[in-house]
Amino acid sequence: MTRVLLIEDLAEVASHLKGLFEREKDVQVVGVQGTAESGLTQALADRPDVVFVDAPLQAQGRLDAFEIARRVREGSPGTRIVVVTVPRKPVRADPDKGVDAVFTLPGSANELSALLGAKSSSMAGGLGKGQTIAVYSPKGGTGKTTIALNVACTLRRAGHTVALMDGVMQFGGLRHIVSAPADCRTIIDLPSCALAKAALPETLWEGPAGVEILFAPERPEQADLVQPAEIADAMILLAATHDYVVVDAPTRLADDTLAIFDAASVILIVSTFMDVTLHNVRSAVDTFTALGYKGQKPLLLVVNQGDTFPGAGRAALEQALGLPVVAELPSDWKTVSESLNRKQPFVVAAPNSGVAKAVGALAAALVA
Ligand SMILES: Nc1ncnc2c1ncn2[C@@H]1O[C@H](COP(=O)(O)OP(=O)(O)O)[C@@H](O)[C@H]1O
Ligand SMILES: [Mg+2]
Repeated sequence: MTRVLLIEDLAEVASHLKGLFEREKDVQVVGVQGTAESGLTQALADRPDVVFVDAPLQAQGRLDAFEIARRVREGSPGTRIVVVTVPRKPVRADPDKGVDAVFTLPGSANELSALLGAKSSSMAGGLGKGQTIAVYSPKGGTGKTTIALNVACTLRRAGHTVALMDGVMQFGGLRHIVSAPADCRTIIDLPSCALAKAALPETLWEGPAGVEILFAPERPEQADLVQPAEIADAMILLAATHDYVVVDAPTRLADDTLAIFDAASVILIVSTFMDVTLHNVRSAVDTFTALGYKGQKPLLLVVNQGDTFPGAGRAALEQALGLPVVAELPSDWKTVSESLNRKQPFVVAAPNSGVAKAVGALAAALVA
């Protein structure tokens, strides 16, 4: 049973949240407090599993939501603290300051369920315990899917638990580069709301090196059945049970891609030195800056097949974009195409190849 305390001064919001909690199995609301002071008192006396505290409470005076979070973390370190806010007042999770997670109203039941399920992350960070890595490229064919798969396998072989998610809802190709059974389950099979967590293990397919894969829908017309928020919810659920969640993100900058970026803790941008790729990467980075991602979460460049354009420079790229290059992968047609034919990631089939070692360096940089 998860014991939840709600500190919320607006009756309407309190009843909305209570309604969501009531739909959850194994959740007991131990109190609804309308003021910061009474909320803090009960939190410290009862030490609930989770405290939901309203961010706009700060309007009331000295004891704002963040001060409550800090004091609850101090007095009851096992309590998970979720700050409730509205879209126009964005709040960032910061477990060091007692804010384990943020729930943005109105919020989905799925999201709430994931927040309730995750343990206090005072020792970990982010929403669940895992790091979520979005692998992105604004140009198709740069090696995004190849890199996502091989990074996931490398992290797994280093002893971490790893989930890999095909975030490309239409024509997501991950299932074809691993030897997935034709009838493998997909994100479509994941029920929404409270049932998702229980259904997750059987929706994942154990792939190469023991990476657990959540596939995208099989048919292109099924893409519309998955809402952007559900993609983000799946990432949050996966992060609650895996050390790393690697997501192959779509190329098009639409709502589903942005939902993936919002839920990600790191965004890897895969580039080559081809003119059209560089041009698109520059535009994408401009967009990320406009969206406020730059500075908010690490945006890291990965140069793939840089050696096919002798003379192009990593330093020039870093300077032009103001972002670091964390890894450079060489071209290796033989190793990469053989691994594709055998449906075995090259980090597994040819761990000593230069390209596998470069992925190793990339994974090590991500862990660091
Ligand atoms: N470093 C590399 N050396 C050789 N071939 C590569 C390399 N990286 C990717 N490829 C090949 O390039 C093609 C496109 O890669 P893919 O990962 O499908 O790109 P994306 O997901 O960005 O569209 C694939 O055939 C892949 O095997
Ligand atoms: Mg791809």
